[in-house]
Amino acid sequence: MNVSCENKNVELVIISSVNKNFICIYFKGLNFKISTFTVQFVTNMSTAKKEYKRITTKTLVDMKKNGEKISMLTAYDYTMARIVDGSGIDVILVGDSASNVMAGHETTLPITLDQMIYHATSVVRGIERGLVVVDIPFGSYQSDPKEALRSAIRIMKESGAHAIKIEGGREVKESTKRILNAGIPVMGHLGLTPQSIYKFGTYTVRAKEEEEAQKLIEDALLLERTGCFAIVLEKVPAKLATEVAKKLTIPIIGIGAGNGVDGQVLVTHDMVGMTYEFNPRFLRRYMDLYTGMTSAFKQYISDVKSGDFPNEKEQY
Ligand code: KIV
Repeated sequence: MNVSCENKNVELVIISSVNKNFICIYFKGLNFKISTFTVQFVTNMSTAKKEYKRITTKTLVDMKKNGEKISMLTAYDYTMARIVDGSGIDVILVGDSASNVMAGHETTLPITLDQMIYHATSVVRGIERGLVVVDIPFGSYQSDPKEALRSAIRIMKESGAHAIKIEGGREVKESTKRILNAGIPVMGHLGLTPQSIYKFGTYTVRAKEEEEAQKLIEDALLLERTGCFAIVLEKVPAKLATEVAKKLTIPIIGIGAGNGVDGQVLVTHDMVGMTYEFNPRFLRRYMDLYTGMTSAFKQYISDVKSGDFPNEKEQY
């Protein structure tokens, strides 16, 4: 089959399916070397009910009231933040998952406050519209509420971010209060809380039993009463997450918490398929960048080795 590209007829060699949203197409005979394309079948592109110039914590609460779902993705650097924000995402999370994704650690525990501030500062430079929320990292808030406030102030002052996220329920109540009293918006995080991984010993679904489910509901209500503007609910049964979202007026943003909540968050590197070892059921991959980038790098290596790159047009 021949198709037209850049006013040239090129031979279409393979179409392979990546997932139901994407296919990979390989062309032969193009005058540039990267010959792998992903084509997205774009359906229902924007379902935004209202145009928002800038997203604030109040916008998110309004979105919940209006029945508009909230979209949230992670970013740890300027370039990714620009792409994510330019796509129209509502919330950009500078997650402590940077510890895994950017630094290659097994858990989120090793990342430091200084490192989180570095990531957040880079992200903030790339944002025009989205709300930037930064994880307060393990070891920078647990000692006492004063330490928590000091860390939150450093994040806000040094990075220019708009809010912080803290893991836990009743155990972080005093710290949350103190941070809120300083005028810093706080997002809660319940369910699977990766900073406590060594306490639980596993990344399996949380709150499956009645007692833990009840505790989670109480914690969610407590965080709302304390003044959090939203809560991330990670890896809990969909039925429980739906119940929490119905009980609370602040938005519940789920990851592995089903579709009955007020918004969704994913780690960007996972959803674009740059990482491939992490395959939880809740993860939808929208691209296969790992394969795409590997083939680009291999082509580059081959072009360098063969002397094909650079050509006459690519030199001075
Ligand atoms: O650190 C992170 O990326 C997170 C999300 C998984 C919610 O906390």
